[in-house]
Amino acid sequence: MLNRTIVSSETSHYDDIQQIVQSEKWFTQPLVVLVLGASGDLAKKKTYPALYDLWQQSLLPRQTVIWGFARTRWNTQQLRHHLRRSMAEHASIDRFLDLCFYRHGKDYGDKSAISSIFQSCTIIHNLLIYLAIPPQVFTDATLALKQVLSQNRISGFVRIVLEKPFGHDTISCRKLLDSLKEQEWKESELYRMDHYLGKEMVQNILMLRYNNPWLQHIWNKDVIQSVHILFKEPFGTEGRGGYFDSIGIVRDICQNHLLQILTLIAMQLPEQLTSAAIRDAKVKVLKSMPVLQPRDCLLGQYEGYSDDPTIADKDTRTPTYVCVRSFVNAPTWEGVPFVLEAGKALNERLCEARLFFRGNGTSALVLRLQPQPAIFLSTNMKRPGFSMSPIHTHMGIEYGEHCIVPEAYTRLLLDVLRGEQASFVRDDELVAAWELFTPLLKSIEMRSPIKYQPGMDGPHERENFLRSMEVGKP
Ligand code: NDP
Ligand code: BG6
Repeated sequence: MLNRTIVSSETSHYDDIQQIVQSEKWFTQPLVVLVLGASGDLAKKKTYPALYDLWQQSLLPRQTVIWGFARTRWNTQQLRHHLRRSMAEHASIDRFLDLCFYRHGKDYGDKSAISSIFQSCTIIHNLLIYLAIPPQVFTDATLALKQVLSQNRISGFVRIVLEKPFGHDTISCRKLLDSLKEQEWKESELYRMDHYLGKEMVQNILMLRYNNPWLQHIWNKDVIQSVHILFKEPFGTEGRGGYFDSIGIVRDICQNHLLQILTLIAMQLPEQLTSAAIRDAKVKVLKSMPVLQPRDCLLGQYEGYSDDPTIADKDTRTPTYVCVRSFVNAPTWEGVPFVLEAGKALNERLCEARLFFRGNGTSALVLRLQPQPAIFLSTNMKRPGFSMSPIHTHMGIEYGEHCIVPEAYTRLLLDVLRGEQASFVRDDELVAAWELFTPLLKSIEMRSPIKYQPGMDGPHERENFLRSMEVGKP
């Protein structure tokens, strides 16, 4: 890279949001947060740290109480001890822990235990419920909550955050959606989390497109030859193999995280960026995509994957790598391949959306989500000096180390509190996403993935496959 501009900020980006949030009504009202599955991995790694972050930045109401609930027979002191150990690096953790309480129950349908939490809250105005539990207990939990809530008058909002996976295929997804409807949860109360939607560069996609009208002239099939959305992780399942083996990389990353990025790139810009308009436009993209074809899909599994002691089936065919081509049947994108690629145990941590320009297969606009956000043009120019030969270089903007951007979970939890649903997955969007992937998932069940060495960028066949999909190298 010859030159680069670094976006950096010594001052916190929280400053502007603090002013806005603190003038909103909900901020002046008492809040109860209820974390179901408080003893678990997600709660420890993401939910509580995000709540801490909001509290630390004065983005939680003064009267906030955070209740944890699970089957583990802890008391409040034990929960605090557990969180103190896992969040030790956070300054002022002890003051935050004073807001945190815990109660255990016999299971997630234990109405009397959940009810006793509500009884011990002197006032419940707004209620945020976070389901950090496995999907098989979602509906027991939501049913118990509904019944307990019907006996407690909540004067403000009730909002539920649901974690992925939302089903295993179209049928199970519909079943989950139907049971929530039968329990009379309204769509406006449900916040289906895809944490990639909370990442800085993903949030930037619509901002970039909306605020740079010139981009519209190149954001189409006449200029763009292919779109490559790439996710690489340098580690394997690391003890989560039991969970992962029943899911696989297609469900874990492609059907949700990468597909969400695709829809934001491919959607038509609505006149206004309201939640409803954005989600309508995303659904339109999904509905215009033909189902994915097995012949357009390369699968891999890293050597040693089944050595993970949590994986029971040592002959498992679960893919840990996938590369799949899709299309968007809309006039703007006719014939442009959208290639989604994701893999575990690869050579680096990287997630990028690359929009290749027609021509030489190297010129592209790249939106890098991680490790450090960046936007750059991968392009060719004259080699500096006497030479008249071209060199390939990047012109771009990198977010510097001092550029403070919120963690995805922090941003999304604040959105829930503010009632902002644009970055959450709507029911029809979810069904459309499953409809696109379910036939492929069924057809690859019996297919043996190609083995690859951990630390490579995928199976050997990858390069030829990408070339055949018209994907270049930026
Ligand atoms: P855990 O396996 O840690 O489960 C969370 C808690 O749920 C456990 O502490 C346990 O609490 C309870 N639990 C676990 N298994 C069962 C069961 N079979 N029946 C009833 N209760 C059970 O999961 P995670 O915290 O990792 O994930 C929670 C949710 O978030 C899942 O839906 C997961 O897919 C999703 N998710 C997780 C991510 C992560 O990084 N961990 C990332 C993205 C999504 P207790 O025994 O005390 O009741
Ligand atoms: C989760 C997947 O949704 O995303 C994990 O279940 C994956 O397998 C994780 O590791 C990646 O998230 P991030 O934010 O670390 O890129």
